[in-house]
Amino acid sequence: MKQLLDVPAPAKLNLFLHITGRRPDGYHLLQSVFMLIDWCDKLHFELRPGGAVSREDLTVPLPADDLITRAAKLLQQQTGCTQGVHIAVDKQIPAQAGMGGGSSDAASCLLALNQLWDLRLGLETLEKLGLQLGADVPFFLRGRNAWVEGVGEEITPIALPPANFWVIKPSAGVETPQIFKHPDLHRATKPATISVFAAQPYDFGHNDLQPVAQTLCTEVTEALQVLKLAGMNGRMTGSGSAVFAHCTSSTQSLVVPGHWQVRKCSNLEVHPLQGWASSES
Ligand code: C5P
Repeated sequence: MKQLLDVPAPAKLNLFLHITGRRPDGYHLLQSVFMLIDWCDKLHFELRPGGAVSREDLTVPLPADDLITRAAKLLQQQTGCTQGVHIAVDKQIPAQAGMGGGSSDAASCLLALNQLWDLRLGLETLEKLGLQLGADVPFFLRGRNAWVEGVGEEITPIALPPANFWVIKPSAGVETPQIFKHPDLHRATKPATISVFAAQPYDFGHNDLQPVAQTLCTEVTEALQVLKLAGMNGRMTGSGSAVFAHCTSSTQSLVVPGHWQVRKCSNLEVHPLQGWASSES
């Protein structure tokens, strides 16, 4: 049996994000396209006897109850597994960015521990566990670019043309719950269809969370301005504060204030761990 595993956890961008309604429990119904990009965290897993789950933060300090630790403990609880693990985390994806870093880490953790602890859980079981950790986790477990509906659990894989994207993360972050509960949030965008999206995948729709994020965080507007000055149409991903643009100009670099992060990213056709858990259906 394997004793060690090194796995990546890629970020996502939401090409658009429409809020189409709200469930009685307060969660929002959405339509979105989630796209994997090559901005990744790296997680290192070491099998430990005795059931203890420990974590070591190699780059950015994470909270004690970070989603990675919660994912490992949830898996132990659900399976009765008595083995332990030490997880070293090389965090590269910024937090409070709308890039799904925490959810992606949780998904990679579930996939890696399913192997390391030899649990043999299928993809659908992992997706149900993942949804308890966060609405975006099932998407990362499925591992394909996807049209996503419901609160994040209705996933339809789609093919996207290879493309490059400028991604800017201002230093200020945005708290997801603050955006979703905001009274000014527009929650009634008319449902769209995949075929209309597919006709212009990198120029479709809008992000309903963006206007609210712009009122709460002026740096979102400033970051969009940087893209505009470089001749590109920017948009926020998820609940922000990161923004992105399809690279349509020959711009080689973008000038941003100190402490902001900027990267030119490529989209991924599939998640690097796609196929690690097999489908039960
Ligand atoms: O599931 P996740 O932890 O990513 O969501 C963070 C918060 O965002 C939730 O507590 C909820 O307030 C809000 N949210 C929502 N509708 C969604 C996803 C998230 O209202 N579909």
